[in-house]
Amino acid sequence: MPLSQRSTLTQFLIEERRRHPDASGDFNALILDVALACKAIARSVAFGALGDMLGNHGGGDSVNVQGETQKKLDVVSNEMFLRANEWGGHLAGMASEEMDGPYHIPRQFPRGKYLLVFDPLDGSSNIDVNVSVGSIFSILRAPQAVVDSGRDVTEADFLQAGAQQVAAGYALYGPTTMLVLTVGTGVYGFTLDPSLGEFKLTHPHIQIPADTQEFAINASNSRFWEAPVKRYVDECLAGKAGPRGKDFNMRWIASMVAEAHRILMRGGVFMYPRDTKDPSKPGRLRLLYEANPIAMVVEQAGGRASTGRVPMLTVPPTGLHQRIGLVFGSRHEVERIERYHAEPVQVPDDTPLFAKRSLFRD
Ligand code: AHG
Ligand code: MN
Ligand code: MN
Repeated sequence: MPLSQRSTLTQFLIEERRRHPDASGDFNALILDVALACKAIARSVAFGALGDMLGNHGGGDSVNVQGETQKKLDVVSNEMFLRANEWGGHLAGMASEEMDGPYHIPRQFPRGKYLLVFDPLDGSSNIDVNVSVGSIFSILRAPQAVVDSGRDVTEADFLQAGAQQVAAGYALYGPTTMLVLTVGTGVYGFTLDPSLGEFKLTHPHIQIPADTQEFAINASNSRFWEAPVKRYVDECLAGKAGPRGKDFNMRWIASMVAEAHRILMRGGVFMYPRDTKDPSKPGRLRLLYEANPIAMVVEQAGGRASTGRVPMLTVPPTGLHQRIGLVFGSRHEVERIERYHAEPVQVPDDTPLFAKRSLFRD
């Protein structure tokens, strides 16, 4: 299709809105503000060392609430999200990986009915090595009491299961900048046309193939994996000669957002499962601004997202920065991994320590 005939993000949103004649337009304006933040971040990422954008914030002394060293671009991207989204009157509040608590919309701006939760820059360990990074966002409805009173939001207002999300998506700052979005009616991918500064619809109706021969996991954690994950990966590694009867390929980018995009484009399965590495951290990734938005996108694309035990979108959150085990991707593989978690652990009879015993796990 010639480029001029592709619809822009704005056109796409207007056409979606026409199907909901009672919609106020707030939601579309909010998505366009999020898209503007992503365009600004894409520009900063692209300038890299030329824009003095690489390295740690504050000489390496600055850590976020997760105890992780903040990169300059983590902080800059967070600011861009706040500035692009605080003024429009669509939001009751925001929350981000890079802020300890909820962000209150400054009093000089009107407040609205949505909550925006985001990871301003995912994969930030890749910034300094010029590998793809991205932003992830989730839109929830603010509780009615917040909208009615106009009061400041609290952490509890954000603790909504992923199934409550109104929209979710991510921007990927790779060889091209893309915005991938779901408003609950499938998944649409837009590519930034750098000459126009517009996102254009290039990937309508993205569907994740149900089967795959590609998996992604950080294998350096294998000694901390739980038995079902070990079993799954062992079976993949055994290839054609093993129980799966086919060879698997492996990828690990260390930017979950980029792994998610690869899986949306050609299938695959991603695992950052619960493990025993640090008992205070049940998983590496965060529920509200990493797992939930990616889970909504994946499920809207016909894939599946899970903790390994339960569907991700059903998990009742307990904290803004709560971590969780995450498995997502091609439906049949995720279902298999869930099955392995549900089954009692198989212990070979010839293992003297566990002979004739089976270990059941929750
Ligand atoms: P963030 O940069 O927002 O802190 O997230 C990084 C996450 C995720 O993108 C990636 O999959 C994972 O951390 C990488 O983990 P490893 O360091 O174990 O590879
Ligand atoms: Mn992240
Ligand atoms: Mn981040």
